[in-house]
Amino acid sequence: MAVLDAEYLGMGTEVQKFEAALEAFFGRPVICTVNGTAGLQLALQACGVGYGDEVLVPSLTYLASYQAISATGARPVSCDVDSHTLCLDPVDAEKRITPKTKAIMPVYYASAPGLITQCYELAARHNLRIVEDAAHALGSYVGDKMVGTFGDVSCFSFDGIKNITAGEGGCVVSDNPETLQLIRDARMLGIHKDTEARYRGERSWEFDVSNQGWRYHMSNIMAAIGLAQLDRFDEFSSRRKSLGARYNAHFAKSNVVQPLVADFSGVVPHIYVVRIVGLLDRDGLRARMLENGIETGVHYLPNHNLSFYSGEGTEELAVTDREFPLMLTLPLHPDLTDVDVDKVVSVLLANIDAFCSAQN
Ligand SMILES: Cc1ncc(COP(=O)(O)O)c(C=O)c1O
Repeated sequence: MAVLDAEYLGMGTEVQKFEAALEAFFGRPVICTVNGTAGLQLALQACGVGYGDEVLVPSLTYLASYQAISATGARPVSCDVDSHTLCLDPVDAEKRITPKTKAIMPVYYASAPGLITQCYELAARHNLRIVEDAAHALGSYVGDKMVGTFGDVSCFSFDGIKNITAGEGGCVVSDNPETLQLIRDARMLGIHKDTEARYRGERSWEFDVSNQGWRYHMSNIMAAIGLAQLDRFDEFSSRRKSLGARYNAHFAKSNVVQPLVADFSGVVPHIYVVRIVGLLDRDGLRARMLENGIETGVHYLPNHNLSFYSGEGTEELAVTDREFPLMLTLPLHPDLTDVDVDKVVSVLLANIDAFCSAQN
């Protein structure tokens, strides 16, 4: 309400405050953006990715990862995922490196670390930049390090259903001063140091621009929502973890339903994904769940099958193609009760046989 009363709705002091709060959270510089996709695009551009370049990315990700890459003029090179974590497989990715490869975009699928350490080793061997798609991973850990506190560039999303929301929104975290300055300028139409001027309460009508920029900044209204949400992060994250652990405890005895993430102590789940061994008719199972008042999801349609991104090399994503039809996302959000989780599990287990192969 204070932002609305002040009537300064665009990017100003509230965004500055939200960035400062996020900087305290990560211990590193943070730049807020209008959404996570914009953050990924700006980060790639600031890493020098552009026309004719290639970026290695797992096919099993939200379309936004791909669109952010192609928006720079670069080509997303579809890579396979590791069969345990369903995150980017660095061995497969290495085979797809060419002289045009500029960067790798590992995705923290379902908020888990995957093989991120091996991705950094791969990048170091080939002198590539890493733009982490950490849209799911706010508050998750890789070993004893929180995502965003290490590495090259990490991009988060604050859309309406993420670990925190700013209505929409996103942020980029890095400690590379040159990359940060390019992102700061590019989110404000490429105007040199416009962020700094706004935060001093100044705006000059004389300026220079030396790179392509975009209107990708965050508004004060969004930042106010983000600040209020960040204050509640501990509450949200412990609830999400405990719901994930409750699902896992139920499925511990099942031979058919396999949770993707085994341990939620260092993972703040944005989505809860299971693999269903022998699943033959996912649509049928989803319809049956819906008849029982339970909405499920599918994350994500592999991008290498989309007309815009299919092509050479994409026929070889064996793990992605094998695993995708078995994957199902069960309900997960902080307002879900333990009783809700118990109901989802009992409806799923009671109905699953009808949609799986007989040998289950
Ligand atoms: C894996 C992944 N990458 C990128 C994004 C893009 O974030 P946004 O919706 O904030 O643009 C999302 C979320 O929507 C996502 O799930």
